[in-house]
Amino acid sequence: MKKLSKEQRESLFKDYLSGMNIKNIGEKYNLSPVYIRHLCSAYQIKRFQSRREEVKKIILENNWQNKPVRTLSSMLKADRDMINKILSEIKENDYTVLRNNEENQDAEALWNTFAELSGKYKNSIESEKSDVIKFHRNKIIGIAFISDAHIGNDGCNYKKMKEDAEIVANTPNLYAVLGGDLMDNHILIQEAMMASNTSPKMQWKLLKYYIDIFRQKILVAISGNHEFWTKRVSGLDLLENYFQGLKILYGTHSFLLRIEFQNGYKTVIKIRHKYRYNSMDNLTHTVKKMLKEGRDDFDVGIVAHHHQAEITKFVYKNKERIAIRTGSYLLYDTYAEREGFENSTNNMPSIIINPFTKKIDYFWDIKDVAEVLKLYNKNGG
Ligand SMILES: [Fe+2]
Repeated sequence: MKKLSKEQRESLFKDYLSGMNIKNIGEKYNLSPVYIRHLCSAYQIKRFQSRREEVKKIILENNWQNKPVRTLSSMLKADRDMINKILSEIKENDYTVLRNNEENQDAEALWNTFAELSGKYKNSIESEKSDVIKFHRNKIIGIAFISDAHIGNDGCNYKKMKEDAEIVANTPNLYAVLGGDLMDNHILIQEAMMASNTSPKMQWKLLKYYIDIFRQKILVAISGNHEFWTKRVSGLDLLENYFQGLKILYGTHSFLLRIEFQNGYKTVIKIRHKYRYNSMDNLTHTVKKMLKEGRDDFDVGIVAHHHQAEITKFVYKNKERIAIRTGSYLLYDTYAEREGFENSTNNMPSIIINPFTKKIDYFWDIKDVAEVLKLYNKNGG
């Protein structure tokens, strides 16, 4: 492309401003019309900008920023759009907002305090609890998984509850693990509170009476969603204080219990009140997912809450496992009836752990496991 001298460029722009045809300009300077258009439009922008600066300078020097746009436009021979833009620039540059950043400093201090606190809160309050119970001698033991009694509910089967607790108390080597929702505690659901014949206070009294029957045989307890409602509204986990006072191991949402015997046999039991991946057609699916996708390896997994018992033996990573859904002590369940769920099953699945054969077997209900344990006990098990 031919390069023009400064003088030639000025002469070209003069021709352009005089209205000379682009084609003729091209012939005069031996340039293509496209290049001439490009040169001239850049020149127009530059000219417009320098004109704008000149107009702005005049307005500021004469302090005319409060004059009407129309007047300024005619006085300065500039279009109204240009005047408007200049006036808004002048307005923006007229003052500076100095932000009070005291508030920001406070927020930062607050942020740092909570960042530190939140880590401590997670570690100390709701992390999963895990402990080891080591039996002093090798013996065959049974464990009953009891949950969802819903003390205070009109449909609660108090008779069977007490009978089962007495079986555990009176059967040597039979223990219990409690899976939550032992009481209704409807403190978050006003309609249920109104319909209930019992208050949470009365339910607490009944719960303590029930626990007292077999408290020496309870290895672990966790909270259900019904007991957890108290913590949700008050921050206080009443069951935690209560069970720890009785020297019963306690976890808020779940517990990983490791059991060891003198001969070195070890087994792991994981219990949660609720878990994800629930299937109405395959109740133990959630337990299997808890093993495959959860953070813990276990031999026996228990998930409560659903009120319908199911027990399955399955193999995962070349090892036999047992998946359990617990039953409930509700004889009839108005919630299940209303929502179209199956009625509760009134059984509490149980297991027998044999450290001699290193095997675990399962039973449908507490009375079944007690009968078998009695036979083992007779034979010096
Ligand atoms: Fe529940």
